[in-house]
Amino acid sequence: MSFTEEINKRKTFGIVSHPDAGKTTLTEKLLLFGGAIQVAGAVKSNKIKKTATSDFMEIEKQRGISVATSVMGFEYRGLKINILDTPGHKDFAEDTFRTLTAVDSVIVVIDVAKGVEEQTEKLVEVCRMRKTPIIVFINKMDREGKDSFDLLDELEEKLGLSVRPMSWPIGMGQRFQGVYNMYEQKLVLFRSHGKQNEEDLIEITDLESKELEEYVGETAAEELRSEVKMVNDLYMEFDREYYLEGELSPVFFGSAINNFGVKEMLDCFVEIAPTPLPRPTEERMIDPYEDEFSGFVFKIHANMDPKHRDRIAFLRVCSGKFERNTNYLHVRQERQMKFANPTTFMASKKSVIDDAFPGDVVGLYDSGNFKIGDTLTGGEVLHFKGIPSFSPEQFRYVNNADPMKQKQLNKGLKQLMDEGVAQLFTKENNGRKIIGTVGALQFEVIQYRLKHEYGASCNYEPIRMHKACWITCDDDQALKEFMQRRRNDIARDKDGNLVFLAESAWMLQMAQENHEQVNFHFTSEFSK
Ligand code: G4P
Repeated sequence: MSFTEEINKRKTFGIVSHPDAGKTTLTEKLLLFGGAIQVAGAVKSNKIKKTATSDFMEIEKQRGISVATSVMGFEYRGLKINILDTPGHKDFAEDTFRTLTAVDSVIVVIDVAKGVEEQTEKLVEVCRMRKTPIIVFINKMDREGKDSFDLLDELEEKLGLSVRPMSWPIGMGQRFQGVYNMYEQKLVLFRSHGKQNEEDLIEITDLESKELEEYVGETAAEELRSEVKMVNDLYMEFDREYYLEGELSPVFFGSAINNFGVKEMLDCFVEIAPTPLPRPTEERMIDPYEDEFSGFVFKIHANMDPKHRDRIAFLRVCSGKFERNTNYLHVRQERQMKFANPTTFMASKKSVIDDAFPGDVVGLYDSGNFKIGDTLTGGEVLHFKGIPSFSPEQFRYVNNADPMKQKQLNKGLKQLMDEGVAQLFTKENNGRKIIGTVGALQFEVIQYRLKHEYGASCNYEPIRMHKACWITCDDDQALKEFMQRRRNDIARDKDGNLVFLAESAWMLQMAQENHEQVNFHFTSEFSK
């Protein structure tokens, strides 16, 4: 197979949803279609259950599961499909944001009863910023839920998506009879839980035909006819170009647990979803078809076995061909590196690979050389854009609890920060260290992992703080003045960038108003 054919057969995407909407269930059904797993139940949910917030072992177990399911590859209709898993728990939203930098499209799962939930809003906002093509799957149609038109309105209003239904449900809950596939003009009947047979697929090109009534009854047939007409009147025709530009989202209805409506969506996905896309670097656009290899690290995962300190860095291949035992430039460290055991993932199985192509994700064993956002290339100096750190919202002072283990603590903290677990700030006035996270759970994770992986212990002290944001300023004098006035509220992040620590929303607002020349950034993407 030629290099171009290899790239063209790849589709790399992520599934995002609010916890419990059915992401794990849908992933599993997709893998079943691809033959990557044989039995249901093989994909474990990586969500951290609510009850587990202080159960460290549970957190560790869940982390172990999530490394196994970080990337799941399967073959379907001659294509190689890579699903990148995203943690559902809100405290790990940053992981999800970063994973979204490595996909070419996403599928958003919505619970029909709950509609658009908070976590989905945030994640879709990130996708929209990047113009990532989105397909929506409305799940749990076997349960009573919101009216379909209301849901479409919600998608448009809360998520800011323009939508186009590709299938339309016939009833819901107890009265759910199936969907009409508007894309292929076929009726798919929902007869029995867990099964969808060939005979459930009925071709009906003319909805006015009497045949429709025979299958779903007169009332449902009438309802379907008028609703389909309304859909056609209200929503624009599906246009792949718009979808690829992230401007139009096809919507499917189904029930993942019953494996219903999933195949219709998958068949449409493989036809319309983008193959590996060009990616921006600070230097230039990188085309996947370029000969020279390039890729970036979007996720780092610690080894589950505390005796082995090595980690797995997940690298998205962006251009060229990645090969085992070949020297590549680690751009930040300005040195050559080669990898003896690069790993790929098929469902939960890991295996060593000889090569990988754009769209693929390679797992690289790492003893501490990588941090999130690092670039590897065939020689060119490139920095991929769009892998931000977010301004954290929870803060605590971190203190060393074992004076004999200062070195271990420093090393552990550095490595955990490189993994992107949290962010470390050092105050300019007194050198005290502050950990900032997006969610509260990370504090427990850090404490636990420092102890078990590095033999260090730490304790926390509360701190009154609203937000940390990065600051830049073109005017040196203005910056100096700001730093003097705010001496006690200035810190450096781990890369030495200046950070303003705002005690309250009001303080932040005042600082912004009084120092107009200073720029306040809420993601660190502006920095290198
Ligand atoms: P998540 O990864 O998005 O967090 O969701 P997950 O797939 O774990 O699904 C959350 C719950 O919703 C699960 O039930 C799952 O069985 C159920 N579910 C998924 N799809 C459907 C569907 O189409 N219809 C219905 N009625 N339920 C669905 P659970 O009780 O939390 O877990 P479990 O004990 O069933 O595993």
